[in-house]
Amino acid sequence: MSFVPRLIRHSPRTLLLACAAAATMLFISEGTYYWRAANLLESREEISQVLMASRIGIAALTAISLLALFFYLRQAAVVQRQQDHLNALTQADHHRLELEVARRTAELTELTHHLQTAREDERSRLARDLHDELGALLTSAKLDAARIRSRLGTTAPEAQDRLAHLVLTLNGVIALKRRIIEDLRPSSLGNLGLVATLEILAREFAQTSGLQVHCELQAVPLDAEADLVVYRLVQEGITNIGKHAKAREVWLGLGQQGDQVVVTLRDDGVGFDPQARPGAAHGLMGMRFRVLAEGGRLDLVSSPGHGTTIRMQLPCGAEPGAGGGGDDDGRGDQRPVA
Ligand SMILES: Nc1ncnc2c1ncn2[C@@H]1O[C@H](COP(=O)(O)OP(=O)(O)OP(=O)(O)O)[C@@H](O)[C@H]1O
Ligand SMILES: [Mg+2]
Repeated sequence: MSFVPRLIRHSPRTLLLACAAAATMLFISEGTYYWRAANLLESREEISQVLMASRIGIAALTAISLLALFFYLRQAAVVQRQQDHLNALTQADHHRLELEVARRTAELTELTHHLQTAREDERSRLARDLHDELGALLTSAKLDAARIRSRLGTTAPEAQDRLAHLVLTLNGVIALKRRIIEDLRPSSLGNLGLVATLEILAREFAQTSGLQVHCELQAVPLDAEADLVVYRLVQEGITNIGKHAKAREVWLGLGQQGDQVVVTLRDDGVGFDPQARPGAAHGLMGMRFRVLAEGGRLDLVSSPGHGTTIRMQLPCGAEPGAGGGGDDDGRGDQRPVA
């Protein structure tokens, strides 16, 4: 027999109590379940509210960030546009200034060329006048003096002495005239050519300054005008050496490299800083413009205590002058001229 029918039969109160206990237990567990469920529901509500609030917050923050990003990008685009505009203006200004500088330099170079040509023409004219007119007058004066001298014979010794003095003076004036003419325009340039003329210049400089001048000169293909530019450059360069360098030795070179004629003048003197431009110095500047006007370039290397080197390049022009000195085979030679 099973346990429950036996219990119903033997102890109905116990069964009732057991039922009551079970019902109570069931009620309590049901109550707990519903309480827990209610709690759970409440926390879920809260969580979903919190979640909702954070979602709204995140969405709001995202929207604000996007808005800020939008404004930032817009501002950056405006700034970039302004910057581009400014850059374009600066670039245009820069370009305009470069063009202006190039134009002015070209004008200055042309003006220098014109002035130098006019100056050389004027010097040539003066040299010609001195040679032709003054030369003729002096020769005629010397002839007259010689005639008077022969007429006087031995009659007037005092007048003879005066006449001898006059002839001496005339000879001095003729020598002075020659020097001035040579200085104005070296006749040797046309008669003997550039190499011989530079050798004469170097020799005379060595004699007057006491410096040792080494020449390495080759005949080069330049026209008469460029010959004169080279001559004037060397003239100015050695004048500077005599004036400023306190040198002991000087090296002068003339030769051809490819389609360029190269002239170098170097000294072992005190040197100087080419960037520190003294106010009243026009020799080097004039030389630079003159070389530029001939389509060449001039480089100057110098520093205090290390001597000075001037290097000039000129494009080749005419064949070496017919009267040009120097070696026939074009070989250079290096020899001291003093
Ligand atoms: N060979 C050299 N050695 C040392 N200093 C030099 C030499 N050549 C030029 N200088 C320096 O460079 C300066 C400029 O020379 P530049 O020939 O232009 O002018 P300058 O000789 O002083 O005057 P100018 O030639 O107008 O009569 C000189 O004053 C001198 O200080
Ligand atoms: Mg000078």
